[in-house]
Parts: sequence; structure tokens; C-alpha cells
Amino acid sequence: MTQTPPDNTDTAHQKIPVNTLVPNRQAGVKLFLRTGKDRFVLFINDTSLLSAAKIEQLKENRVTHLHLNTSDRKGYLNYIRENLPAILSNPELTDNDKAEIIYDTASSITEELFLQPSTKGIKQTRDLVDCMIDTISQSPKTSNLLMMITSQDYYTYTHSINVGIYAVSMMRKIMPSINEAELKTLGLGFFLHDLGKARIPNSIINKQGPLDQNEWQLMQEHPTLGAELVHKMGEDNPSIIDIILTHHERGNGSGYPEKLSSKEISVPGKICALCDIFDALTTKRPYKKALSTFEALKLIKNENPGHFEIELLNQFILLFG
Ligand SMILES: [Fe+2]
Repeated sequence: MTQTPPDNTDTAHQKIPVNTLVPNRQAGVKLFLRTGKDRFVLFINDTSLLSAAKIEQLKENRVTHLHLNTSDRKGYLNYIRENLPAILSNPELTDNDKAEIIYDTASSITEELFLQPSTKGIKQTRDLVDCMIDTISQSPKTSNLLMMITSQDYYTYTHSINVGIYAVSMMRKIMPSINEAELKTLGLGFFLHDLGKARIPNSIINKQGPLDQNEWQLMQEHPTLGAELVHKMGEDNPSIIDIILTHHERGNGSGYPEKLSSKEISVPGKICALCDIFDALTTKRPYKKALSTFEALKLIKNENPGHFEIELLNQFILLFG
């Protein structure tokens, strides 16, 4: 072991669980052992292979976490992304750690996807959703933990992840026998539902006051733009396109872009719409505070007559216990 990192204050470090280390891979970042307050020693270099023996040695010494410089966080997220299936299948990783790893990885993938939509970004999102659903199947508690760590700060990409997490949980609740392949497809649709916003100018997306008529008209095009965008990127699964196109439709025909009636909107489309409203209400913006889960559910139930079937609303309320 060698000397301490140059910046060794507690705030400059991030803790990472030892159980995220995969044998015979490079971490890609320097990892440190904490030896006392503000004291760290180098455990492994960014280019060295993590041997199984070295990882075992940590466990024998009851070391549960290593540390990295916060400035290396991006490098660590890349390591997680590249090794996600192996990391999440480690039975020693806690459900809490699994949920945090999924959320952090989803944030880094979808942030990039919204900045620059690409076929590669959609594939990475699909791989992430697949891993998330495999993990939920093996450790069902992860589903609730994911719902608890959803970000309260509103960004288009965090909104997409939150809606994806709520909607997958809701699908599992109302269709417990849904097969995993179908859930993965719908999950990808939920995560991509707002991708069309990547084609709307930021001045409209981030506007703090009400939108004028032209801006609102453009905003209402985001479901169609999103469907076109994913189609162009090679994703033509009808269930995914359907979720993107219908997530702003309402059962009483007051939605957009097609003003569909309840019987014309698919169940996944309705679920995505419900989760979309719920997340918009429970996240904060510069001009509004976040409502509590209870306040948001009450508002959706009392102030959206005809938007959703009562049975669907009741199931959604039950989802939050
Ligand atoms: Fe939307």
C-alpha cells in the first residue's frame, strides 16, 4: 500500500461497497482504505486488476467499504456500467446497495441519452432496464427501495427514471403473472416515454412561468417527436412506441396529441400517464414545492375526474402502502 491521496478530507471522498468489486477487473479509478479520520491509504491503482484474493482479504478484515476521490466518481460509474450484471448478481450485495447502484447508473445513462439521443444510449438504457427487472425478480424488496430513493429534484432524465420505476412496480402489481420479457419491453418504454423532450428547445423545457400558446403547441408534440426519435434509432417495438405516444392521453378525451378515449388507451399508456403526473407533483421545481406522496395521491384522486379509471387509481394508491 502506498501514500494517501492528495485531497484527503472526508467530503472529497465517496464510500463504495466492497461487494461492488468484481474479481479480475480493473476498477479504472484509485481506491483507498480509510485508516482514520481524514486518513486514507491507497488500496489499488486504477490500472491494476482486482484479484479475488485481494477482495477476500478485505472481507476477512471486515472492511465493508472503500473510498474514492469524488472527482473520480464518473470513472467509478463507468466501471459500474460495464460490470452491472456481475455486480448486481453478487448475493452479498445488500438490497439497499443494489437499489442505489441501479438509480445512480440509470441517472448517468439517461442524462447522456437526453443530452444526445443515440442508438447506443437506447441500448444502454435497455441493458439497464433488463438488469433492474432481473434484480427485482431475484430481490423483490429492491422495487420498494427504488421507489423510496427517487430523486425529488426535477430534471427530465430523473423524471424518466422515477416514472420508469413507479410504472414497472405498478405493472407488477396489477399483472403479477406478467412475463419478464414483456415487463422489460414495457420498462424500456416507461424509461423512454419523455425522450421527445430532447427535441424541444431548453428555453421551453426550463421556462419558469406558464408557456405561451406557441410554446405549448410545440410542447404537445413531444410524444410524437419521441416516437419518431426512437423509431429512427432502430427501436420499433409497438408497445414502446405506444407508451411514448399515449402518456399524455386522458380517459375523458382531454389529453394530447390524439385526444383518445379511455378504451383507446392501453393499460401501460394509462399507467405511464398516472406515474408521470405523480412524479411531476412529488418533485420540486424552482417555482413550486414538492407535494408529499399523500398530498399528491389525494390531488390526483380528487381533481382529475375522468382522467383514470377508479380501479387503476386505487391500485396505484395501494402501491404506496
Ligand atoms: Fe411527457
